[in-house]
Amino acid sequence: MQDFIKNLPKAELHLHIEGTFEPELLFEIAKRNQIGIPYATVEELRKAYQFDCLQDFLDIYYRGANALQTEQDFYDLTFAYLQKCNIQNVRHTEIMFDPQTHTDRGITFETVINGISRACDDAKKKFGITSLLIMSYLRHLSEEACFKTLEQSLPFKDKIKAVGLDSSEKGNPPSKFQRVFEASVKEGYIPLAHAGEEGSAEYVWEAIDLLGIKRIDHGNNSLQDPELVKEIIKRDLALTVCPLSNKALKVQEDLTKHPLKKMMDIGLKVTVNSDDPAYFGGQVNKNYEEIQKALNLSKEDLYVLARNSFEYSLLDQVTKEKYLKELETYYDKNK
Ligand code: HPA
Ligand code: ZN
Repeated sequence: MQDFIKNLPKAELHLHIEGTFEPELLFEIAKRNQIGIPYATVEELRKAYQFDCLQDFLDIYYRGANALQTEQDFYDLTFAYLQKCNIQNVRHTEIMFDPQTHTDRGITFETVINGISRACDDAKKKFGITSLLIMSYLRHLSEEACFKTLEQSLPFKDKIKAVGLDSSEKGNPPSKFQRVFEASVKEGYIPLAHAGEEGSAEYVWEAIDLLGIKRIDHGNNSLQDPELVKEIIKRDLALTVCPLSNKALKVQEDLTKHPLKKMMDIGLKVTVNSDDPAYFGGQVNKNYEEIQKALNLSKEDLYVLARNSFEYSLLDQVTKEKYLKELETYYDKNK
């Protein structure tokens, strides 16, 4: 199974670039920017990655991101992730980035986007990996702050495919961002959002009805409401599920009780993703491996998950079909 997963062509649809910041690279970049870290060694820092909930994680994740200062830092971070994609046969990736985490520290939007997108261009040339960028608004910040970010993004519109919504979910419902999402859609961005990770099914309703999202990040708590499940299936929205993230943040304590297979069985379109791999114990292939073992998934289940990852990507139809064909050929030979 491990080899089957390793070579399975796949796309990653839920990935925060700031969440790929491995302790080794964090130390290296902090050193070159002369920024102090309150940990003596890489091992000590990694040991601090123990969380009881989403907020615990976010506090450490935002602190780590402070080390990123220059365009080259964002390039190095992104290229390191794309190299990992290459060895895992991730053929396409949709990368979220949180501009406000950086612009609020005085780093320009341009520095962030140029570093990330130059790495994506190089990975396309070097490995043939395609990528799209999702600009995520931080939901613990105000609507006004998000409008400002939208404004800052406009000169770089050609590099950004979609908008997302992340950070502390509870107490920050999608309704708070209805107007900024409407404005973002008018500018041509596709609307996406985290919903139903720690928030209730009600938050997922708001995300689909008020924000009009085209894909649901996490979405676990949708299962609380059978009417909502029916609606998600009717609208053909996929869920970007992140098993190791769910385990690390205690959204799902035990992977053997994870609802991924149940979701598939009731007709939801599910994909497997790593979310913040440097913090949650594994890249996307590790997520496939762990959930396969925990739920005893078949090769066919894994194939369906990979197929969903291409079908529900934001790619154009021609590129999607190219990848789907590659996947079919692989599955025919290896099933
Ligand atoms: N949830 C919400 N915000 C985030 C996450 C997440 O899993 N990862 C990075 N920002
Ligand atoms: Zn996420």
